[in-house]
Amino acid sequence: MPATERTIVDRTTVDQGSPTAAETIGGQEAWQPWSDARGLRCINCQRWYPVREVIYRCLECNDLLDVVYPRPIEDAEGLKRRWRRRRGSEKLIDRSGVWRFRELLPFYDRDDQVVAYPEGNTPLLEGPRSASYGGVRRIRFKHLGFNPTGSFKDYGMVTGVTQAKILGMRAVACASTGNTSASMAAYAARAGLSAIVLVPEGGVSFPKLSQSLDYGALTLQIRGDFDAAQTLLQVIAPELGIYILNSVNPFRLEGQKSVMAELLEQCAWRAPDRIVVPGGNLGNSSSYGKALRELHDLGLLSKRPHITIVQARGAAPFYNAFNSGAFNSGKSGHPEMLERVHHARTLATAIKIGAPVSWKKARRAVDWSDGWVTSVEEQDIADAKAIIGADGIGCEPASATTLAAIRRLAREGTDARVDPEEDIVCILTGNVLKDADYTLRYHASALYEEFATETTLSPKGKKLESHFANPPVVVDATAEALRDAIRSRLAL
Ligand code: F0G
Repeated sequence: MPATERTIVDRTTVDQGSPTAAETIGGQEAWQPWSDARGLRCINCQRWYPVREVIYRCLECNDLLDVVYPRPIEDAEGLKRRWRRRRGSEKLIDRSGVWRFRELLPFYDRDDQVVAYPEGNTPLLEGPRSASYGGVRRIRFKHLGFNPTGSFKDYGMVTGVTQAKILGMRAVACASTGNTSASMAAYAARAGLSAIVLVPEGGVSFPKLSQSLDYGALTLQIRGDFDAAQTLLQVIAPELGIYILNSVNPFRLEGQKSVMAELLEQCAWRAPDRIVVPGGNLGNSSSYGKALRELHDLGLLSKRPHITIVQARGAAPFYNAFNSGAFNSGKSGHPEMLERVHHARTLATAIKIGAPVSWKKARRAVDWSDGWVTSVEEQDIADAKAIIGADGIGCEPASATTLAAIRRLAREGTDARVDPEEDIVCILTGNVLKDADYTLRYHASALYEEFATETTLSPKGKKLESHFANPPVVVDATAEALRDAIRSRLAL
């Protein structure tokens, strides 16, 4: 579409909303998944916008937008059969684990508009050691780190970049803790768009930073945190005609819905009892809520899995609000704004976010699914990550919050109890190689918590215990030394 036909909107600020937002997002019945016509709809005042408008928030009340469509006409069995059939196809659009479920994403007009790597088709893995560590009978991990750029972001970037192309945008941008930027850089390069990434200086792991460099993005290291980068981008992007691909962009969340469709198909359409997901900017959990809401309405969900969102204790604004009872204290008690965490603190840098943009959608997901929100300590994240590694799976620190949360919820009677017999799926959001430095430090017993005061953040806080350390052993290059080293560790 030519630029003259587009409306570019600059009404975006972080974590604001209207006083009446809760009336809509709190009430389950108020959440209608479909609309008469394809478009963008405010989650609060329901105002509707054309699908090709460049807009990230409602012009009326500044709240978040959903992409909405008329209800698909095909019945549940027909959709299941169609999606399964595509698995045998050689067409790129069918080989994508996102576009395979395209009946849930009809915002594009023609197949040739679609960008695909392909992405998705990630495995569902049994984690027996993790289950026993977590205190439950069985845990399965849906490992989204098996994507082309190593994180779940590819599920949403493919749809975000497709929309950018349809809109005729020339440049895309995001603020990131490292994975969004890696993914956006790759997809922009594949689609022939310029990419601009804003990352907190010193706050992104080297592998993630190296990805955006290698994929050719203009990489701006901000002397500030993720929250500052996110706010700044919302100011400059409309001025420069740049399309924002943070999760405030609802087209990103559309693609991420496919994770739920794929997962349910892998479970033979028997929904798990609980889906555990790390929460940072809260886009991922929001998209899972939207997916489950739609799939439920289509008759594809046997029950509502409890969406359980986990934050790191030092970066837990959503948990703080949930835990304070602010989300269930009736209309007048609903927070209009989430109290942000200044100096968000966690070694799980992917989720080091103090002012999550999508918190209202995430809350809608928790409400609808009768879910839960919890937080976990740095020590617990570190140990859980080593256990997931010992299962031969591995993940980045943010993903390990899921197992840490299960252990906490299964053991502590003080929080929502997880029944040991529950059918649990934990979402692993990033590949083990995304933060090799963290892994090496853990196994070398040299991992230190970040330490925050009111005004500063220091890298050397308390030393974490490496309860499951598997340190490398340096040996002389002789057969004898090797034999000794092996025998002292393994009973051979
Ligand atoms: N896990 C990983 C590995 C992530 O990279 C992120 C977010 C999350 C979990 C949290 O997901 O924000 O949708 O709640 N990373 C973003 C980024 C913020 O810039 O890469 P969320």
